Amino acid sequence: MQFPHLFEVMDQSWPPASLHATMREILECGNSKPFRPYYQWVADEVASVLAEGEYDYVVELGAGTAPISRLLAKKPGLDGVKMIVCDDHPDAETFGDLQRQYPDKIVARNEPVDFSKPQEWPPRTLLLLSGAFHHIPPALRREVLENLTKSAQRVMVCEPLRKAPVSMIFVPFSIFPAMLLPIWFFGRPGKLRRMLWCWLAPIAPVIFWWDGLVSCLRMWTDSEWKANLQELLPTGRKASIGHSLFCQMVTWVSPTKPDPQPTAEVLQECCAQEGGERPFPAPSPPAEVS
Ligand SMILES: C[S@@+](CC[C@H](N)C(=O)[O-])C[C@H]1O[C@@H](n2cnc3c(N)ncnc32)[C@H](O)[C@@H]1O
Repeated sequence: MQFPHLFEVMDQSWPPASLHATMREILECGNSKPFRPYYQWVADEVASVLAEGEYDYVVELGAGTAPISRLLAKKPGLDGVKMIVCDDHPDAETFGDLQRQYPDKIVARNEPVDFSKPQEWPPRTLLLLSGAFHHIPPALRREVLENLTKSAQRVMVCEPLRKAPVSMIFVPFSIFPAMLLPIWFFGRPGKLRRMLWCWLAPIAPVIFWWDGLVSCLRMWTDSEWKANLQELLPTGRKASIGHSLFCQMVTWVSPTKPDPQPTAEVLQECCAQEGGERPFPAPSPPAEVS
C-alpha cells in the first residue's frame, strides 16, 4: 500500500544545525549496541560480502555520522578496502575525526554528495545506503535505483525500520536513547546542545518519533522492492530481499558487472532480530528475482 510521502524534519533546512546534529546522534546511539545491534548487523553483513575479495571500496552514501564505516574500519581482515563517507549535508567534523583515526581506511568527502544524482565511483565499489533510501520521493526512486546500479558493482540498501506495524510500535522506544544521549555521549563535543534539545527543551525526542513513524510509511515492503527490482534487473540476475523483525536489507549486483557470487533472493516473512541469527541464510540454488 502506498502512503503519501509525508515530510521528515530531518529533511528540512529550517531546524538549527545543533538540532540536526542532535537528531543524527539519537539515531546513531539508538541503533548501536547496547540499545540495538542494527549497525553491527549491517557492518557484519557488509564484511561478509567484502570477504569475497571483489571490492576495493565501500561508499557509505547518506552516511550521517558514518556509523557503519566506523565499525568496518575497526574490523580486522579488511585491509586494502577503503570506506568513502559522504552525505548531501556532510558532517565534516565527524568525517574528519574518522579519517584522522583511520587514515589508511577512511576517505572523507566533505563536499555535498547527492546520491539521487548520477555519480562516478571507482571500479570494484560497493554502495551502501543505511536509513537513507526512503528519503527519496517515490516518483524519483526508479531513476535513482538505475543510477546507483549503473555506477557500482553492488548496491546494499539497509533500513533500521520497515513498513510494518511491529516497526511502528517500536518507534516510541527511541525515548530511551534520546533521554540518555547527553550522558551517553558525554565524552564528545556538543554537551550543551544535547542537554538543550534532549532535556531542557526536549524537542529532539518528539521529532524523532515523528520522523521514525514517517520513515516506516515511506519505505517499501519486501514485495514492493521485488516488483521494482524485477523491472530494473534483467532476467537471471539475482537480488536478495529480506528483513528481520524491525529492519530490512536489500542487495543486488549491477547487471553490467560480473556477479562474483550470485546472491540468493530470500523473501522471509520474519526471521530473527538483527544481530541474532543471520537474516540471509544462503539457500541453494539461488532464486531469481523474476
Ligand atoms: C536517517 S539519516 C541516516 C544516516 C546514517 N546512514 C545512519 O544509518 O545512521 C539519513 C541521511 O541521509 C542523508 N540524505 C538524504 N537524502 C540524501 C541524498 N539525496 N543524498 C545524500 N544524502 C542524503 C541525510 O542527510 C541523512 O544524513
